Amino acid sequence: MRTGDRDDPDLTDEATYERLRSPSRRALLRLSAGAGLTAGLGGGLLTALGPPAAAATAARAGAARAGTASGGIVKPLPPELFIQHGTNAEMRWEAMHRQGYLTPADRFFVRNHTATPLIDPRTWRLKLWGTGLAGRPTEDRPIELTYEDLLGLPAETLTASIECTGNGRGFFASQQGQGASGTPWRLGAVGVARWHGVRLSTVLRRAGITREAVDIMPRGLDADYVDKGENLGRVRRPLPVAKAMKDVLLAYRMNGAPLPPDHGHPVRLAVPSWVGIASVKWLGDIQVADEPLFSPWNTRYYRLFGPEYPPDGSAPLTTMNVKSAFELPWDATLPAARPLALRGRSWSGGGRIRRVEVSADGGATWRAARLRDRRPDPRGWTRWEFPWRPQRPGSYELLARATDETGATQPATVPHNTLGYLFGAVVRHPVTVI
Ligand code: MTE
Repeated sequence: MRTGDRDDPDLTDEATYERLRSPSRRALLRLSAGAGLTAGLGGGLLTALGPPAAAATAARAGAARAGTASGGIVKPLPPELFIQHGTNAEMRWEAMHRQGYLTPADRFFVRNHTATPLIDPRTWRLKLWGTGLAGRPTEDRPIELTYEDLLGLPAETLTASIECTGNGRGFFASQQGQGASGTPWRLGAVGVARWHGVRLSTVLRRAGITREAVDIMPRGLDADYVDKGENLGRVRRPLPVAKAMKDVLLAYRMNGAPLPPDHGHPVRLAVPSWVGIASVKWLGDIQVADEPLFSPWNTRYYRLFGPEYPPDGSAPLTTMNVKSAFELPWDATLPAARPLALRGRSWSGGGRIRRVEVSADGGATWRAARLRDRRPDPRGWTRWEFPWRPQRPGSYELLARATDETGATQPATVPHNTLGYLFGAVVRHPVTVI
């Protein structure tokens, strides 16, 4: 991934973007963010989406949440497929054994700040508003799009992972002896699906995004998130216009079926290669602004905090790092003196996986695994296989280390951050051979 330079900044990289979004650099931002937009933006295209809502109040009520799943998550969470962590459910990696390339919806992890809302697509509306749209529609009189409108727009399919930024967080404590606050996921807060829907750029263009627009703020329809007694409002995570216009999908289907309730029904964002929080579920509205936007989800969360970082944390986190997992139970039991084919998957927000090495002796020696996918989607993962014949019964640690097409690889340890994001070190997977 390009890190961006002064003349040609990569505005899909938030570290670059963060430097530029300061008021003194706004002119440059505007220039660059608008550069990718086609001509003909503005009022004429509004007709495709309908005029700003006349009866905005009624429509707001119509799109309100119809109810909330009892227990927070709608789908069954059988213990052989999931580990439950409060409002969240982690996929057990053995659930991917003998599965195809994609993660079936019944075993896709769920990360809910509150609870899955049950939304009727007939009354659902996507509202677009803000100073970055022609005519500057307000939140009370937004441009509106129905579910049917969305289905009528040109659609695309995208195979991509969605991964929680805290995936692997539990290993900060178990492998590095320094815990972090938040859900102690192992490696099961990731899944790869085929997302089908309309490019966000299509909708933003038709809504009349202007060259002045710099940020968008998609917001979910789930309940307000309350953190230690403080109401932070509905989940919303700003995106730079450059990323929003590049490769983001308004997805309404997952793996060939309508989006399930837990994964954002009726419509969610699928933001490939980026931190999972960007893929806002149960999308209700999108603010488009001619000035930088902030929410707790790009200020107090989803940055790196700790003694090694500035007091306000790092730049907002964007691209996910390289990781690998074995399709085995944690503490699996395996037979001795028999040829085994260990299988697993590796993935990276940086692009396609080029190499995977496996160690069956705790990291003393490494051998290359065989990559099973010839041309995996760079935004998905790569499956691999490693032959192993353990001679003696006993306890072993299996390690897998991947390298992506940018040369990024998995180190033995990673620097600590207090919220436990981006654990990209090699995970030591314990097994017992009998
Ligand atoms: N969108 C809303 N509205 N509410 C949420 O709680 N969680 C985010 C993101 N989108 C969330 C959301 C986080 S942190 C992640 S990792 C992904 O959704 C998880 O998507 P999934 O539950 O479909 O796996």
